[in-house]
Amino acid sequence: MKVRRLSYALGAEVLGVDITGPLPPTLVEEILGLWHEHQVLLFRGAALTPQQQIQFTENFGEPDRHEGNPNFRMAGYPELIEITNKLSANGKASPTKDVGRAWHSDLEHTLQPLKGSVLWCGALPDVGGDTMFANMYMAFETLSPGLQKTLASLEAEHDVIASFSPKYAPPDPEHVAALRRTAPPVAHPVVRVHPATGRKSLFLSERVSGFVGWTYEESRPLLQFLSEHFTQPELVYRHQWQLHDMVMWDNRCVNHQALGNYDRSQVRYMRRTSIIGEPLGRPMNSVLAVA
Ligand code: SIN
Repeated sequence: MKVRRLSYALGAEVLGVDITGPLPPTLVEEILGLWHEHQVLLFRGAALTPQQQIQFTENFGEPDRHEGNPNFRMAGYPELIEITNKLSANGKASPTKDVGRAWHSDLEHTLQPLKGSVLWCGALPDVGGDTMFANMYMAFETLSPGLQKTLASLEAEHDVIASFSPKYAPPDPEHVAALRRTAPPVAHPVVRVHPATGRKSLFLSERVSGFVGWTYEESRPLLQFLSEHFTQPELVYRHQWQLHDMVMWDNRCVNHQALGNYDRSQVRYMRRTSIIGEPLGRPMNSVLAVA
């Protein structure tokens, strides 16, 4: 096995490992160690079947069956969701064509955010369709001790609707209304401690609507500052996909964003498995924090 770092901030390519079959436990431990060290791992060139992707994922935890978004699931495989702009059989636009456009951590807007995600590329446009990853440990560690202390005492309101913005894609009012009913906002600590590495990370994204106990107006400037901070190029790795790449990231210390930088008449097709995480946070009744 060889390892090649992908950027200064985060990410490594793992070479010389056959991910299509069962992995010996010692190799799983080695990969886990690399995942904890680099946060994002890339494996190239495996034409994985759905079953092989699920089998790989099971080495690192229990695959989520995506009950929260059943219409994204691949037929016959509840452990897989398809993220694509490919038109469905009846010629309708795919509901996943703009999934992940805003910076986020998967299922952060729930009481059980995902531990990890494994994304495999099955079709690509000629150019673009990249995914960006931000190192949220570094985001925390590069703040002043004073701000770190303030943030460590705060909770933030995570609301999936906060990320629906014309900046990324026109929000679909029906989808937004359905999510308002099925995915009410939750409160999470702003600073998380990773259970395996013990490192602290900033748990904020573009799905955060405000700090608990602060007003929207009070929250916005600090959120804006922190957003600019964690998306600075020095903290980010931008993945330019090749066919049959598989990338696995750690949602406990990484934010990611899918870019719409490609010709929409060409197909981008990705399959994702998701690893269930620990329960976190508490429910919120409000959309905006009330002082
Ligand atoms: C996601 O947010 O899981 C989608 C990422 C991508 O399609 O690049």
